Amino acid sequence: MGCDVLCVDNFYSGTKDNVAHLLGNPCFELMRHDVTFPLYVEVDEIYNFACPASPVHYQWDPVQTTKTSVHGAINMLGLAKRVKAKILQASTSEVYGDPQVHPQRENYWGHVNPIGLRSCYDEGKRCAETLFFDYHRQHSLQIRVARIFNTYGPHMHPNDGRVVSNFIVQALGNKDITIYGDGSQTRSFQYVDDLIEGMVRLMENAVGFIGPVNLGNPVEFTIRQLAEKVLRLIPNSTSKLVFNDLPADDPIQRKPDISLAQEKLDWAPRVPLDEGLTRTIDYFRRKLGSV
Ligand SMILES: NC(=O)c1ccc[n+]([C@@H]2O[C@H](COP(=O)([O-])OP(=O)(O)OC[C@H]3O[C@@H](n4cnc5c(N)ncnc54)[C@H](O)[C@@H]3O)[C@@H](O)[C@H]2O)c1
Repeated sequence: MGCDVLCVDNFYSGTKDNVAHLLGNPCFELMRHDVTFPLYVEVDEIYNFACPASPVHYQWDPVQTTKTSVHGAINMLGLAKRVKAKILQASTSEVYGDPQVHPQRENYWGHVNPIGLRSCYDEGKRCAETLFFDYHRQHSLQIRVARIFNTYGPHMHPNDGRVVSNFIVQALGNKDITIYGDGSQTRSFQYVDDLIEGMVRLMENAVGFIGPVNLGNPVEFTIRQLAEKVLRLIPNSTSKLVFNDLPADDPIQRKPDISLAQEKLDWAPRVPLDEGLTRTIDYFRRKLGSV
């Protein structure tokens, strides 16, 4: 798009490897910085993605997770206010908690446990949304809020416990594929390129639509179906399915209603699960050196 990009990361759950291919590009700059501290730079747009996103990472240091969402939002909103930048928040379907309505629309307020193991992430993101909307109302900041549903693709961390990377890494290593519960809980899986297209449309939309807006793939699969698909796409794997206890507060069903994104952004996901999984499996094959 011809933009200069300043990538800010403290490498808490990301790695420099993920952007190594961009380091020689004169339009790209990398800065090690923790967003819980103020940042003084000059920018026109801010995409606030900083936050560990998998339970393994966000529960490792839950206080830091809440700080990243809340102090990070305050610092980035302060920066946006100072330089009059447009700012987009990567919020999450977790703001709906364990939802009592399906599929979830943006006007659903959620069903969230405020004191559980997942609360540092869920409530941190909910508070960040509050801050975004108060900066908008109080300081007329140009905000955008995307509620991202389960997204996967190349460059995921191999050990972060997320279901797609977990199953692929297990299948490539011929290890048991661990399913929590009986595998009948459903998820919808969005390929990363679809999400990026949606977020750029949200940031750039000319009518000033700010959200919150769901960005996710509404096609549902059970966790068991996902495991079986991964095994079909890695036919020489000798992995078997094994079933463990469900973790606390794990939602039974999660599916976005994306009619608002379709209407306001003319956006819908395009990459089918098989194609996205194939690209992600290729990435992990190269990364893990397996055949
Ligand atoms: N992947 C998904 O399914 C999903 C779903 C909903 C929301 N999101 C949101 O999208 C964003 C990106 O998620 P992801 O899946 O790419 O996760 P990720 O862990 O790969 O990326 C998060 C990045 O933020 C960095 N980070 C963490 N704390 C930081 C801090 N204090 N200061 C600076 N950098 C920090 C990490 O090092 C990492 O590079 C997150 O905000 C996440 O909550 C992701």
